[in-house]
Amino acid sequence: MSGFADYLESCQTRINGFLLSQLDTPQPRLERLYAAMRYSVVNGGKRVRPLLCYATCEALGGNVASADPAAGAVELVHAYSLIHDDLPAMDDDDLRRGQPTCHRAFDEATAILAGDGLQALAFDWLGHQGDWQPATRLQMLQTLSRAAGPQGMVGGQAIDLGAVGEKIDQATLELMHRHKTGALISASIQLGALASERASTAQLQTLAVYADCIGLAFQVQDDILDIESETSVLGKTQGADIARDKPTYPALLGLEGAHQLAERLRDQAVAALQPLGEKAVHLQQLADYIVQRRF
Ligand code: IPE
Ligand code: IPE
Ligand code: MG
Ligand code: MG
Ligand code: MG
Repeated sequence: MSGFADYLESCQTRINGFLLSQLDTPQPRLERLYAAMRYSVVNGGKRVRPLLCYATCEALGGNVASADPAAGAVELVHAYSLIHDDLPAMDDDDLRRGQPTCHRAFDEATAILAGDGLQALAFDWLGHQGDWQPATRLQMLQTLSRAAGPQGMVGGQAIDLGAVGEKIDQATLELMHRHKTGALISASIQLGALASERASTAQLQTLAVYADCIGLAFQVQDDILDIESETSVLGKTQGADIARDKPTYPALLGLEGAHQLAERLRDQAVAALQPLGEKAVHLQQLADYIVQRRF
């Protein structure tokens, strides 16, 4: 796994450098807004979505540098979703990535605007950066907007908030997780495939199966970690889901059942990659990482 640790670090360094290079304050009156955006982006996230984007581009024989703006764009949408997810009107959390949440470090209005700003900037990057073919760029814009919006992440968040304190069945929980987390994970993989400008229809289908499985597994593991991982490791407050009576997989299936589901999804994801052969090794390792991580 040490080769994988090096790979993880090299991709994290790559995306962190890219993100930092794009978020300078353009004029003094925007300093507070940009400071809040940088605070929420350049702050030690695991960068799973950019990693998936790079690893997919590479698995198809593409040049990873061509994926930078796409990897960056999906991370911006993710960072925005976290800022808003933590707001008092949503999960009301004080800790994110081991630091005070954006609205705690700044104020609620700034946090709302920082999230709005990051979301718009993501589409700006997809629209204006990279040297992709126009048709590729259009597909990227469609992919990320679908995944971010009411048919994806925002829809999932709405189901989540609507279900607090309710006992929902497994089908509804799955629907919620696939929307709120799976959609952006799938988009990361599709964006990496598009950035390579080499994906065949068959390869896109293979990758879609992988993406569906790890997208759901990712949120199952997130739910598990809320119970199992200590605040100091997790970088978020342990037990926050239980305290708020959130619908989660461990609440529905028990911890053991949730672990079994995460592992089953990981196995399905890895099996789906077979047609891509050796070049998909990092995608395979990422599937393991997603269900083994402790934060
Ligand atoms: C947390 O995402 C929120 C979910 C969608 C489950 P991550 O676990 O990827 O958070 P960071 O980016 O590493 O902080
Ligand atoms: C968040 O799910 C999914 C998003 C769209 C941000 P959670 O509410 O479980 O994420 P954490 O645990 O706060 O990171
Ligand atoms: Mg939430
Ligand atoms: Mg939350
Ligand atoms: Mg969570």
